[in-house]
Amino acid sequence: MANKRQEKRFVPLSKPQIVQEDIDIVTKVLESGRLSIGPYTELFEKAIAEYVGVKYVAAVSSGTSALHLILKALNFGKGDLLIVPSFTFVASANVALYEYGSVTFVDIDPITMNMDIEHFKTIVEENFNKFRRIFLMAVDVFGHPLDWDKINIFAEKYDVTVVEDSCEALGSEYKGKKVGTFGVAGAFAFYPNKQITTGEGGVVVTNNEKIYKMSVSLRNQGRGESQGWLSHDYVGYNYRIDEMSAALGWSQMQRLDEIIEKRAKVAERYKALLKDLPLELPVVMDYVTKMSWFVYVVRLPQGTPSAVRDTLIRKLEDEGVQCRNYFAPVHLQKPYRELGWKEGMLPVTEDISQRTIAIPFYTDMEQEDQEYVAEKLRIVLETLLK
Ligand SMILES: Cc1ncc(COP(=O)(O)O)c(C=O)c1O
Repeated sequence: MANKRQEKRFVPLSKPQIVQEDIDIVTKVLESGRLSIGPYTELFEKAIAEYVGVKYVAAVSSGTSALHLILKALNFGKGDLLIVPSFTFVASANVALYEYGSVTFVDIDPITMNMDIEHFKTIVEENFNKFRRIFLMAVDVFGHPLDWDKINIFAEKYDVTVVEDSCEALGSEYKGKKVGTFGVAGAFAFYPNKQITTGEGGVVVTNNEKIYKMSVSLRNQGRGESQGWLSHDYVGYNYRIDEMSAALGWSQMQRLDEIIEKRAKVAERYKALLKDLPLELPVVMDYVTKMSWFVYVVRLPQGTPSAVRDTLIRKLEDEGVQCRNYFAPVHLQKPYRELGWKEGMLPVTEDISQRTIAIPFYTDMEQEDQEYVAEKLRIVLETLLK
């Protein structure tokens, strides 16, 4: 008789949690006829502000537009330098190029996969005096917070402007304080693979009134404070979030803590299921008082060629287990190669990104599906790594 666990399944890489309340509220917005610039944008902003513990929130059309608006509001541009990890989503770096600023990449710590703080310090010291201002795009990779005690004093000493790209980390805490609040401003993103989703969407979070006011103006075509119909103080954008998205985000915010807890349980189960496999599993540092898991990324043993990883992903996909490599180094993408970046410049980033596999991970993931993933991983690893 066929073993039930061997029956083929499809386990997606990610899946948003959509409940009846979400559907009802979006339907209500559609029925109201007010589909943009309405009450749910404000309610969503308020819910995020209270949760994260900041004075101001501006909801926008994506995490990328949130990051862009923060740099715009800080007048980032030609003559300024943005230090950013290469092990991130490409938008973290691209926003600097939108504004004709310079970008330099910092390598990562092999355990947390976050920025290597010592390398960051070296870059600042090497570039101090060469640029008008130095900015840090601090990314909480896969939801894991940075070690702020080691960054803050140094950043202050060299007058580095810190922006937090917390797009993957809504709800995570460093020593009791929510991420997104450690720089002058932070951004969260709500693509459907995130902890909560608005379809597409993002927010700027800040305690700085000027950044907030500029974000509100620039997301809405640079309209003046009165937000007059055709009165424009700046060359702005249409980075508005629509009301259906904002209502969905507000609805999801009502249960964020429950979502984070469920995701933590999924991560815990994976840790137990995968502990005997030849894989490096994600590590959460002691200073993390709350981990809001974004994805579950495992790594093949050091020295494994990327071709083996790619074959492994293909074989898992053949078994119905959707997987991805996560991330590909940003400095090796074409636009950055054209600026002179090449292999060998960021050894830890390049080594780790050859070996990563994001395996299926989502809020309502069932134990049986996790067991299926673990079993298929075990079988495929056995054949590939022998
Ligand atoms: C680290 C990071 N920064 C920025 C973004 C951009 O967010 P969005 O896709 O909403 O524009 C993402 C989204 O995946 C991200 O993971």
